[in-house]
Amino acid sequence: MQDIINQIDKTALPKHIAIIMDGNGRWAKNKGLPRIEGHQKGADVVEEITEAARETGIKYLTLYAFSKENWNRPTDETKALMFLLFDFLQNKKIKMLKNGIRLNAIGDLGQLPEEVLACLNHTIKETSVGKEMVLTLALSYGARDEIIRAIKSVADELALKKISSDHLDETLFSQHLDTHDMPDPDLIIRTSGEMRISNFLLWQGAYSEFIFMKPCWPEFSRELFLQCLIDYQARERRFGMTSEQLD
Ligand code: IPE
Ligand code: IPE
Ligand code: MG
Repeated sequence: MQDIINQIDKTALPKHIAIIMDGNGRWAKNKGLPRIEGHQKGADVVEEITEAARETGIKYLTLYAFSKENWNRPTDETKALMFLLFDFLQNKKIKMLKNGIRLNAIGDLGQLPEEVLACLNHTIKETSVGKEMVLTLALSYGARDEIIRAIKSVADELALKKISSDHLDETLFSQHLDTHDMPDPDLIIRTSGEMRISNFLLWQGAYSEFIFMKPCWPEFSRELFLQCLIDYQARERRFGMTSEQLD
């Protein structure tokens, strides 16, 4: 059977794909397993999808791994998630280096446990030579929180007269967001059948294409990822214009 990757137009790839990796808990519950086993399986899928994105030639992959609101979950679960993150950072560094992947993180990172933050910063630094793909983890991330932090940063520059309000436009504001060094996501995928944004990339997703799909994150796969790319390529992104204008 022909690999589905051959159906993808390599000249029209999305530059940036962001994924809301949802449904670990329900996947586990359906199998009569504890939620944490869903998160463990989910971590394996992170590796598979990172490889698939790298193989396809995607330049930016952003994964929503832990939201600011997720701190409200039971402590057992947040602790287990932090442990899995620590484990991922420690064990995948060599593979990231080998594949030219640069790790990046967005979110209110100061909320992370000290040892996790130290490991994150270490891995970000070590992989900073990566030129093939940027893998961004959204950690303790909330889009409203990010926007407020950006507003504060702009306000500081205004107060110091580094900028004047005449200069404030969308481009300048974007430079104060956690995502200042990456393009907006062309495609946002959410697994598990939920059709909501859950405080993810509210500013940056203004013109993203969305794919909501039924399988839970532990069931997501290279093949489903590639199918998302094929679906994306069949869409027409009009950015407010008419089809005729795009022709
Ligand atoms: C996504 O799976 C992982 C995180 C939010 C950390 P969930 O844990 O939200 O799984 P469901 O949605 O409860 O099934
Ligand atoms: C969104 O999933 C956050 C992540 C995938 C990390 P949630 O499971 O936390 O979202 P809600 O609570 O169902 O909206
Ligand atoms: Mg969920």
